Amino acid sequence: MIIRFKRVLVWLALSAAPLAGAQAQQPEAAPDTMEARVQACTPCHGANGQGTSDPYFPRLAGKPSGYLNNQLLAFRNGRRHYPPMNYLLEFLPPDYLKNMADYFAAQHPPLPAPAVVDASPEVMERGRTLVTQGDYAHEIPACSSCHGPSLTGMEPGIPGLLGLRASYISAQLGAWRYGTRTAIAPDCMQIVAGHLTEDDVRAIAAYLSAQPAPKESSPAAQGSYALPFACGSEPTR
Ligand code: HEC
Ligand code: HEC
Repeated sequence: MIIRFKRVLVWLALSAAPLAGAQAQQPEAAPDTMEARVQACTPCHGANGQGTSDPYFPRLAGKPSGYLNNQLLAFRNGRRHYPPMNYLLEFLPPDYLKNMADYFAAQHPPLPAPAVVDASPEVMERGRTLVTQGDYAHEIPACSSCHGPSLTGMEPGIPGLLGLRASYISAQLGAWRYGTRTAIAPDCMQIVAGHLTEDDVRAIAAYLSAQPAPKESSPAAQGSYALPFACGSEPTR
C-alpha cells in the first residue's frame, strides 16, 4: 500500500510538471468540457472510467450516479481515505462533483472478463452461498438482497458488485470492518461487513471477481425491490 502510494505521488508530480509548463506557454484557457475536467481522473480510472490494468484502481463506469457522488463527497469529507483522491477533491465544489458522477455513470464500456482465481471449490462455494443466500446463523444477509438478484445494484445509491477485482473488494470490506470507510447512516455495509470473518471476505472476493458479466449490467430502477433493512445512502420513496 505504501509503495503504491509513493508511486502515485511520483506520478502526480511528474504529470503536473509538464502541464504547468504547457499552460505557461499557452495563456488561452483550455476548453472547460467534461472530458477536459475528467483528465485528472482517467490515468487511474481509464478513459471511460472502465478501470486500468492496476489491480486496485476501481472501475467507475456505469455505477449509479448517486452512488458515485456519495463517494466523491466521502473522499472530500474524509469518510473514505486514499490520499491522492482526498487531495484532488478537497477544493472542488459540490456541483462539480455531481457533474463528474453523472459523466462516469453515463459511460458504458463493457465489463472486464471474469478473473481466473486461485481458490478451492469449497472457498468458491462459501462465496456463492454468502453472496446469493447469506448465512443467517451469523447474521449475514445475502449480498444479492441489496445489490440485486443479478448483482448490478439499484439506483440511486447501491453499486453493482461485478467487474470489480478481488483485491479491491476485499480492501473495501476490510475498510468497513475496521471503520476506515463509512457511508451515510444507517451504514448498512458497516453492519454487514462487521459480521464477516477474514475467510468470508476472501471467499466473497474470489467468487465475485470470477463471475461473468450479466447481459444487462445497468443498475435496477429505484424501489424495484425492498431492502432487508434501511440504508442511509438508498432513500426509499
Ligand atoms: C492516483 C490515482 C487516482 C486518481 C488520479 C483518481 N482516483 Fe479515484 N480512486 C482511486 C483509488 C485507488 C480508489 C479506491 C480508493 C479506496 O477506497 O481504497 C478510487 C476511488 C474512486 C471512487 C469510488 C469508486 C467506488 O466504486 O466506490 C470514485 C467515484 C472516484 N475514485 C472518482 C475519481 C474522480 C472523479 C477522479 C478525478 C477527479 C479520480 N477519482 C482520480 C485512484 C485515483
Ligand atoms: C442492507 C443492504 C446491503 C447488503 C445486505 C449488502 N450491501 Fe453492499 N452496499 C450497500 C450500500 C447501500 C452500498 C453503498 C455504500 C456507500 O454509499 O458507500 C454498498 C456498497 C458495497 C461495496 C462497495 C463497492 C465499491 O465499488 O466500492 C461493496 C464491495 C459491497 N457493498 C459488498 C457487499 C457484499 C460482499 C455483501 C454481502 C456480504 C453486501 N455488500 C451486502 C448495501 C448493502
